[in-house]
Amino acid sequence: MYQYDEIDQALVDARVDEFRNQVERRLDGSLPEEEFRPLRLQNGLYLQRHAYMLRVAIPYGILSSRQLEQLAMIANRYDRGYGHFTTRQNIQFNWLKLEESPEILAYLAKVQMHAIQTSGNVVRNITSDPFAGVAHDEQVDPRPICELLRQWSTLHPEFAFLPRKFKIAINGATYDRAVIMAHDVGLLLKKDEHQKMTVDIYAGGGMGRTPLLASLVKSDLPWQQLPSYLNALLRVYNRYGRRDNLYKARIKILVKALGATQFSKEVEDQWIVSRDRSADFTDSELARVAKSFTKPAYKSLSNQTRENMIHQSSATAQKAFSKWLERNTKEHQVSGYISVVVSLKNHQGSAPGDATSEQMMAVAKLAQEFSFSEIRVTHEQNLVLADVEQSRLFALYQELTQHSLARSNIGLLTDMIVCPGGDFCSLANAKSLPIAAAIAEQYDNLDYLYDLGNLSINISGCINSCGHHHVANIGILGVDKDGTEWYQITLGGDQGNDTAIGKVIGPSFSAEQIPSVIAQIIEVFEQHRLAQEAFIETYQRIGMEPFKEFVYQKAERDVEHV
Ligand code: HEM
Ligand code: SF4
Repeated sequence: MYQYDEIDQALVDARVDEFRNQVERRLDGSLPEEEFRPLRLQNGLYLQRHAYMLRVAIPYGILSSRQLEQLAMIANRYDRGYGHFTTRQNIQFNWLKLEESPEILAYLAKVQMHAIQTSGNVVRNITSDPFAGVAHDEQVDPRPICELLRQWSTLHPEFAFLPRKFKIAINGATYDRAVIMAHDVGLLLKKDEHQKMTVDIYAGGGMGRTPLLASLVKSDLPWQQLPSYLNALLRVYNRYGRRDNLYKARIKILVKALGATQFSKEVEDQWIVSRDRSADFTDSELARVAKSFTKPAYKSLSNQTRENMIHQSSATAQKAFSKWLERNTKEHQVSGYISVVVSLKNHQGSAPGDATSEQMMAVAKLAQEFSFSEIRVTHEQNLVLADVEQSRLFALYQELTQHSLARSNIGLLTDMIVCPGGDFCSLANAKSLPIAAAIAEQYDNLDYLYDLGNLSINISGCINSCGHHHVANIGILGVDKDGTEWYQITLGGDQGNDTAIGKVIGPSFSAEQIPSVIAQIIEVFEQHRLAQEAFIETYQRIGMEPFKEFVYQKAERDVEHV
């Protein structure tokens, strides 16, 4: 993975010193809160319901074992013993003390981490495919471009005060695992007929109050021109974005208002004016960065069949191991290797995406033993060990089992994406975590979940959509009606190559109703499902109506019985 050079290290070290001084002045009263607020947000420090929350950047979701151990130490020493991995491949700590925050940043800087640009109206952490560099369907390894753009966007003086925050996602595989269509800018890296890297640029996607999918604004851009083109794009947004209205300030509103063709023309016009003054990426720059992403020392191994791999396990563990193998592993580019997804949706009573310090320490150690000391964070709030020898898979599975990290539920109903909601977030309209727990509780039979197949449920505690409810097959959104918590359900959202935004089924439900409403939706799916259809396929075939009819009739009947 990328190693800081002296410029990177000097930058984060200087930022720690600066922040220490700012906190000292806040604590001695010389810096009032309104002046301190933007300064702390520039270091990812939010003030939430109960305490300070720190969002730490994990560039394109890649961590070393050493970094994960440090995060575990921070969770243990400064938080309540756990951290929360987010859909933007970051980690959040929810229970921090202001006076300890410079110390925490100093510990992060020691392992080449920081919280710069994890908040504010700037280019945020760039996200990517958690299987980058190992994915079987990869066309271009996105990591060097992610890193070049990270360096380009970090503390870029012209884009320090954009109309709103700006999120870039990059994908280089045939299948989109970075949800590029739901981002302000999504980059698709490809190879042209001469094997040269080019980029398709999508702009204007995002969730929140007005969910929109991004539009293609530029095809086949030579990768070298990314800085000048993105510069032009951000300038257009900086100039025309709706600074007057917070709800209309995202680039998606500008792209929608102008139309993708006109927006793209504006960018081209700006590009003509400014491109000569903006240096292109060069082959030598790419080569410098790409050195950090060379293939690890793979052994020369032959591929094993599934049966062979299952054969490694003990007789008693065979059934469970084969399920885990099917759901939680992914084909690798290199023969004899496999990628493993570590489920963070595994334990009763803990929030999706949460990992305890003990679990973080365990995963860090397992990454050392089994996967070249590297860990990835997924957009679905799970972890990945990308480079595991197939012949050692059962040994890894056993170790993960001991730490409650081997739940075979990847892509299944209980692999929910869930925001912190009203338990932590000061913006929430409703709680998300207890809703997730109540749903998970009624689906504790893995065999049944397995039969239901791929099905996503995402939950957000308010319209900001941190839980990505819009792109879930079943989305749940917390809404506030006269001070009471209600939940609106959407159906038909999807991520990946067929990214779609779900439609609202009808009037909202109370928290108590949600588990049974989910069960009814599943019941309709099971009634109409053909052969091995996935939920989304059945929904697309039969539409909203059968679901709506059943759920609301049932709701009415329930009311009559009360
Ligand atoms: C308690 C801490 C959090 C606060 C205060 C917060 C705040 C916000 C706000 C204000 C927005 C709306 C931005 C807009 O209008 O576009 C937003 C959106 C978003 N947040 Fe959070 N958030 C928090 C936690 C999280 C977590 C835990 C995740 C991941 C699970 C997350 C991921 C996102 C994403 C993906 C969006 C998406 C919508 C988009 O950009 O299109 N946030 N958040
Ligand atoms: S969706 Fe709303 S409630 Fe949930 S974390 Fe985001 S801002 Fe908070």
